[in-house]
Amino acid sequence: MLDKGIVLPAHIAIIMDGNGRWAKQRGLARTEGHKRGAEVFRNICTYASRIGIKHMTFYAFSTENWKRSETEVTALMNLFRNYLFEMEEREAENESGGYCIHFLGAREGLPSDLVKLMDQAEARSANKTHMHVNIAVNYGGRAEIVHAAKLLGEQIKAGTLQPQDITEESISALLYTANQPDPDLIIRPSGEQRLSNFLIWQAAYAEFYYDDVLWPDFTPDDLDRAINAFARRDRRFGGVQQQ
Ligand code: FPP
Repeated sequence: MLDKGIVLPAHIAIIMDGNGRWAKQRGLARTEGHKRGAEVFRNICTYASRIGIKHMTFYAFSTENWKRSETEVTALMNLFRNYLFEMEEREAENESGGYCIHFLGAREGLPSDLVKLMDQAEARSANKTHMHVNIAVNYGGRAEIVHAAKLLGEQIKAGTLQPQDITEESISALLYTANQPDPDLIIRPSGEQRLSNFLIWQAAYAEFYYDDVLWPDFTPDDLDRAINAFARRDRRFGGVQQQ
């Protein structure tokens, strides 16, 4: 349960980790862990939107995940496809509470039919305001910064930007998360305590919360616990402690 009267984080980002271990513990294929993980992703979105979180970001596939077996990569791509196919259904059942969907990451390298579905989902949901759901697919934090640097380089080459005019804001505006607040809270389940190239620019002032539960076992109660812990922290942003 959420503690009474707390200030909710505006943006929560989650590294959905532990699917493989969850499957192994049950003698199942790793892909079964991802399947269950995708269901948990949906449940957590529904719950987060119900309690009033405005931005959720989920790390679904990193630029390093291409190193996994073809079976596993294909299974993950199919889970993304299924989610997008079913989006229309969910929109109908969820008229007042629609999500604005964004995909963070490089489109290059992804199957072209999936890219088309991603583009359509973003376009169809662009005016929805209840909650922003960012899904990081083919995402790497360093690659995201390189991408932004290339765009800045092009603007300088075209003469529309002077190097001395580059600011933190102008870089933020060229990241995949443009126009969204930085995450306040980053949650990593499954006992690992690393950022793994996730939102490395945006995480500058984020609070981190680690949990031993594996992602396929993650529940709304676990999210509540993370939010309660976040609400008890004293965020100073480099300033001094409030007396
Ligand atoms: C990391 O756990 C998890 C992933 C690489 C995949 C996460 C993707 C999903 C949960 C599917 C999301 C679906 C949608 C529709 C967004 P791991 O496999 O590395 O776990 P391990 O460390 O236990 O092996």
